[in-house]
Amino acid sequence: MKVCLIGAGRIGQLHARTLAADPHTSELVVADADAERARVLADKVGARHAAVDEALGTADALVIAAATDAHAQLVRRGLERRVPTFCEKPLARELDETLELVSLVEDSGVPLQVGFQRRFDAGYAEARRLVASGELGVLYCVRLASHDPEPPHEAYIPTSGGLFRDLSIHDFDIIRWLTGAEVEEVYADGAVRNFEVFARYDDIDTAVATLRMSDGSLAVLTAARHDPPGCDVRAELFGSRDSISVGLGPRTPLRSVDPGVDLPPGPAWTNFLVRFEDAYRAELSAFLRVAQGELPSPCTARDGLQAMRTAVAATRSFRDHRPVKVAEVS
Ligand SMILES: NC(=O)c1ccc[n+]([C@@H]2O[C@H](COP(=O)([O-])OP(=O)(O)OC[C@H]3O[C@@H](n4cnc5c(N)ncnc54)[C@H](O)[C@@H]3O)[C@@H](O)[C@H]2O)c1
Repeated sequence: MKVCLIGAGRIGQLHARTLAADPHTSELVVADADAERARVLADKVGARHAAVDEALGTADALVIAAATDAHAQLVRRGLERRVPTFCEKPLARELDETLELVSLVEDSGVPLQVGFQRRFDAGYAEARRLVASGELGVLYCVRLASHDPEPPHEAYIPTSGGLFRDLSIHDFDIIRWLTGAEVEEVYADGAVRNFEVFARYDDIDTAVATLRMSDGSLAVLTAARHDPPGCDVRAELFGSRDSISVGLGPRTPLRSVDPGVDLPPGPAWTNFLVRFEDAYRAELSAFLRVAQGELPSPCTARDGLQAMRTAVAATRSFRDHRPVKVAEVS
């Protein structure tokens, strides 16, 4: 297949390597609003570079890894050509755009996959299995953490949609996937604790939220743009039969200060690209099979919408200082 990758930034560079190496790809074309960036990346992975219009015009499969505020129009253009499309999270920056895309995707029947790569991580998959099989028993509560080691570059911040839509949206998706339940209500708070640059864009660098799920279980999450020991993405699930953790191991960037406890013993995950390298590969290899018609989308536009609705509810909760029902957000 001729695969078109749009976006040659942080995540686009990793996706380019994966796509170039996949046997489903006969030709990879890289495009970016910054033509030089596309050229450098294409040369690095042995791909061709082209302008966005040209790359889109010949694609059999489209991978969108451009800045978030470009997603909606690029997805629409892919749909116009009926090209199976992978779009990085979030599906669009705004809720109304997301709703419109879900209708367009569902009416068109064109396969679309949203880039929530935690669904392809071995630890999260095992946690999901343990919940579904009943081995965890009654699920009492879940703790989620998404901490980036370093804030993104400044130009990323105003295009991102803000902390809840950009970072916590991973947690809002994975909690649904892990539990099979929907988020019913969110109570969120946040602050600029250390990086005034976020305040400049009406954004925050640190947040917490509690979630009430449709099965009665509870969840709590933390989000941070700065965690100097490394990339800390974890989930802890507590049930009536067992308690389990995803992301706790020798590379967890969290140090125990208890006497005689030597944790962590190894070098920490340095960033999200390292933490989820295998998962990013697996999600794109699944997408190329989706594009070939071999698999249904493992993360649909409607999944993207549900996570976005929770992110919008969290933002509203933080701004209004009150719990917000996801049903309010439509
Ligand atoms: N799944 C994940 O874990 C994960 C991790 C990081 C980023 N992302 C998502 O991937 C996207 C890119 O993030 P990034 O960190 O690589 O950002 P980045 O700023 O490093 O790169 C974005 C690239 O998009 C290009 N671009 C912007 N508008 C464009 C347009 N209209 N057409 C073509 N190119 C355009 C920019 O020139 C830049 O090269 C974001 O939507 C982000 O939310 C997902």
